[in-house]
Amino acid sequence: MSLPFRLSRGVLNTISPPIPEAYAWAEKYDFSHGPLLDMAQGVPDRPPQQILREGLAIASASPDSFGYCPPRGELSLREAMVQEMRKVYGENIDVTSDDMALTSGCNLAFVATIMALADAGDEVILPVPWYFNLQMTLSMLNITTIPLQTRPEDGFVPSPSECKALITSKTKAIALVTPNNPTGATYPPEIIASFSHLAQSHNIALILDETYRDFIITTSLPPHFLFSNSTPPWRTHLIHLFSFSKSYAVPGHRLGLVAASPLFLDSALLTVLDSLQICAPRPIQLALAPLLPALRLGIIDTAADLAKRRELFERHLPRGWKVGSIGGYFAFVRHPFRRGRGKGKGAKEVCRRLAEEMGVVLLPADFFTPDGEGENENEERWIRFSVANCDERRILEVCQRLEKCAALFGWESDA
Ligand SMILES: Cc1ncc(COP(=O)(O)O)c(C=O)c1O
Repeated sequence: MSLPFRLSRGVLNTISPPIPEAYAWAEKYDFSHGPLLDMAQGVPDRPPQQILREGLAIASASPDSFGYCPPRGELSLREAMVQEMRKVYGENIDVTSDDMALTSGCNLAFVATIMALADAGDEVILPVPWYFNLQMTLSMLNITTIPLQTRPEDGFVPSPSECKALITSKTKAIALVTPNNPTGATYPPEIIASFSHLAQSHNIALILDETYRDFIITTSLPPHFLFSNSTPPWRTHLIHLFSFSKSYAVPGHRLGLVAASPLFLDSALLTVLDSLQICAPRPIQLALAPLLPALRLGIIDTAADLAKRRELFERHLPRGWKVGSIGGYFAFVRHPFRRGRGKGKGAKEVCRRLAEEMGVVLLPADFFTPDGEGENENEERWIRFSVANCDERRILEVCQRLEKCAALFGWESDA
């Protein structure tokens, strides 16, 4: 039966959310190899710290949390986030609570930012593979996504000079995610600085989604220096996005953050946010505000734990499976199966059979690339593993099932 009313062209031209497709494969699994092992959606695998759960119970029962809050969000949480950002980006950063607006999740922060920046027919540059919700947002708003290819030989880090060649008079923004979803690639500070210069010199915005920034502990250096001694000054072009979902393990409470020039917030973003959300959910803001300093220790523990998981995963992957990049929540891995004449089997087919027959749920690169791509041998073979989802025992179990699958499926492999 079709609907009697017409849908928006934007929605009709946009892909359906891809993750349910992977979980539909998993529904066919008969548990013959043991429990389902889910490395598909990137979700924290443990509940929030006890003090936060208790704080949330109190905050949500408090009469203060029932009404709307100021459009930018609770001042107490924005001030606490300034201190948090000092811990991450350096004590000398120039960021204030007036530079921030809290949103109902980071996805909404991106939607609102794009609505504030671009009109139908404008262009936004996104590195490929991309976080599919970014591309879906652009597509729904009839904004053209300009793909900026990244490659395994560069560790999936995008090139500022290739990006420069894609900028036109219609370009409104470059949107980067670092550490990246889906590749896990963590862009070096000097690459981020080059993108910052590029954006500033072309009078376009640089949107930097740093949802996974708390999970890099490989160096003691900040993820980048844009907030501190940066020339050009960051407020001329940078729009920083952050999600509380992963760091604080509260994805269901929907809280994100935009840090940008107060001029951008006041003249554009708050207008969009007023229509989309009025204000972000209050109990989680009130609960987090006094707790951020105490919660940081737990975040550091989680980051160390994730580093161990990533290392264990790399060490136990069966022969032939190759990690292209890894970091934050994710590993981007090339499967070893051949289709014949030097070509690889499609990652989608590999993921489907692993979910249906082996109970391992993963996402193929197809979910993160433009339609019709993946035709060449390399692109077809990449798979995203959300290493954060599974503890060490389950990571080992995933690697064992990958080891077994070649024989069970009767597939030829490179190994
Ligand atoms: C890069 C990136 N940005 C944003 C989000 C969504 O964050 P939120 O739950 O705050 O909307 C995700 C979730 O997976 C993500 O990977």
